[in-house]
Amino acid sequence: MARINSPTELEELRQEILSQRDPDKPCITLCSGTACHATGSEKIASAIEQEIEKQGLEAEVDFRRTGCHGFCERGPIVVIYPEEICYLQIKPEDIPEIISQTVKEKKVIERLLYTDPTTGEKVTYESEIPFYNNQERLVFGPNRRIDPKSIEDYLAIGGYRALAKALFEMKPEEIIEEVKKANLRGRGGGGFPTGRKWEFCRNAPGDIKYVVVNCDEGDPGAYMDRALMEGNPHSVLEGLIIGAYAIGSHEGFVYVRQEYPLAVENLNIAIKQAEEYGFLGQNILGSGFDFIVNVHRGAGAFVSGEETGLLISLQGRAGEPRPRPPYPAIRGLWDKPTNINNVETWANVPLIIDRGAEWFASIGTEGSKGTKIFSLVGKVNNTGLVEVPMGMSLRDIIYNIGGGIPGGKKFKAVQTGGPSGGCIPEEFLDSAVDFDELTRLGSIMGSGGLIIMDEDTCVVDVARYFVDFLCDESCGKCIPCREGLRHMRELLNDIVEGKGKEEDIELLEELSRVMAKASLCALGTTAANPVLTTLRYFRDEYRAHVEEKRCPALVCKELVSYYIDPAKCQACLICLRNCPAEAISGARNQIHVIDQAKCTKCDTCFDVCPARFGAVKKISGEPVPAPPPEKERVLVKAKRG
Ligand SMILES: Cc1cc2nc3c(=O)[nH]c(=O)nc-3n(C[C@H](O)[C@H](O)[C@H](O)COP(=O)(O)O)c2cc1C
Ligand code: FES
Repeated sequence: MARINSPTELEELRQEILSQRDPDKPCITLCSGTACHATGSEKIASAIEQEIEKQGLEAEVDFRRTGCHGFCERGPIVVIYPEEICYLQIKPEDIPEIISQTVKEKKVIERLLYTDPTTGEKVTYESEIPFYNNQERLVFGPNRRIDPKSIEDYLAIGGYRALAKALFEMKPEEIIEEVKKANLRGRGGGGFPTGRKWEFCRNAPGDIKYVVVNCDEGDPGAYMDRALMEGNPHSVLEGLIIGAYAIGSHEGFVYVRQEYPLAVENLNIAIKQAEEYGFLGQNILGSGFDFIVNVHRGAGAFVSGEETGLLISLQGRAGEPRPRPPYPAIRGLWDKPTNINNVETWANVPLIIDRGAEWFASIGTEGSKGTKIFSLVGKVNNTGLVEVPMGMSLRDIIYNIGGGIPGGKKFKAVQTGGPSGGCIPEEFLDSAVDFDELTRLGSIMGSGGLIIMDEDTCVVDVARYFVDFLCDESCGKCIPCREGLRHMRELLNDIVEGKGKEEDIELLEELSRVMAKASLCALGTTAANPVLTTLRYFRDEYRAHVEEKRCPALVCKELVSYYIDPAKCQACLICLRNCPAEAISGARNQIHVIDQAKCTKCDTCFDVCPARFGAVKKISGEPVPAPPPEKERVLVKAKRG
């Protein structure tokens, strides 16, 4: 690997790499992101390597392990280039057929294709699958085309071109101006304008300045930063180096949570490669600019993702936030001016420098430009990572990309912004997803979690879940957050357990107001969002829990009872045999009865009762009907005979 000393040498290298690549040569790509890793992509990779060798195709076929393709629900994913034939949920035993049929003979294997659930049609090409063709994957797109462990793959798609432009064609102030003109807003939660933050840091007094990548990503269900860091670490590094040059920093840190080993592995490889090529270290690309990067593994506490907590954690102490101001741009790491941005924010920077602020600002809405990667999870058919232009409606994301709600159930709400976000109901499904609109609805964009809930979800229980999470994750340093969350958790526990009092709802609102005003960091100030939004949009459900001791969604265990409808029971013994509490009595010719005293409300009988019988009933807020007397149980069964 030779060091690159100028933009000309970089372009020469790129041309050399491209000249060695035949775009028509068959290439098998396999998603090797963490989710697909968990569903067996390593075994598939071995099967591909062995089969290529067995069929003597080493010279004719390329094989590339890529990062996450986004459609994790259907992984592991294999895409065969140049046609882009896409096979989903691949198993090692499919590989010989894929190679002999598709790679060699160009024949499509129907059973491995995506089937459109609405039309029943098979879709051959990746770009035509509705999950993908409704997205605009500017930041995340390269993930599926490159091997994250190969800097040559990144260079082949134009990598480090923006860095060369920044270093040789732009002054630091011009870069900041370009990022400001693009109106890039932070993707880590707050949506603060990135260019302005860089400017504060550049103008802050002091010779030593630091830049930091926030890859803590503690939101439950969110994994877009992990997927970017695993799948395209060079894009984050390139953004970081450009930012460092613009700000006047010569040392950077990437803070990655401990649970992301593959992200750390690929990042370390990328740093080493970038150093060898001269994109990092002394005299980068011969420009005279020096910059080094260190990787720090965080212990995985949600609150350590908050910028002041993260910087303290980077210095080796417990990651507890401190009051701001002073903001990190003025006093950050070791009291020096520090600029911290989210992984996705940094990864947007090369795009802006390469393609220009005007192009970037042409995507999105008035106040929110560019795209956003969301982690689409919960009760939706196509779970995974999706990247869409800012301003796309929730409905388009959930139905066109996510494929709607499974099992023909009704949509109930979507939680945006992670644990500090809010629950948005059906009436706002046509709202544009951008920073300002979500705030108007009482929620936040956050880092991009979208948790979909169907009609079987109890929103009070959901609010309880998030408050419980935040209560455990609160650092405990400030009283409003520590005690407020604890008290909120107690109140919500009482409500879902049927012990709630009428005044509890008002008390929840009062606590929310105090926490929002008095907490030390945004964990506390936003913690009440799930409670406030569910109260705003689903107040009736809180009332039902408190006043009628009823859970309308039939979720809250203490408020739900199960019984077997004697008119529907077929005495099939299935529920009786499966009940782990031995709470069901009956026999082959005797309808079954649940002993309410023994029932643990585990849902098993409800799940196993065949749908064609539908005999097990779940009720809430009403007394359980008395079972028929013993002799009538036999009689009913005898009649059916
Ligand atoms: C409790 C809490 C957790 C946070 N976790 C993260 C995180 O995991 N990743 C992140 O980028 N920002 C997180 N943030 C936001 C950071 O404090 C900070 O605003 C962000 O890193 C700035 O980058 P940006 O301007 O690019 O968004 C968190 C904030 C709070 C209050
Ligand atoms: S990890 Fe394979 S598609 Fe996401």
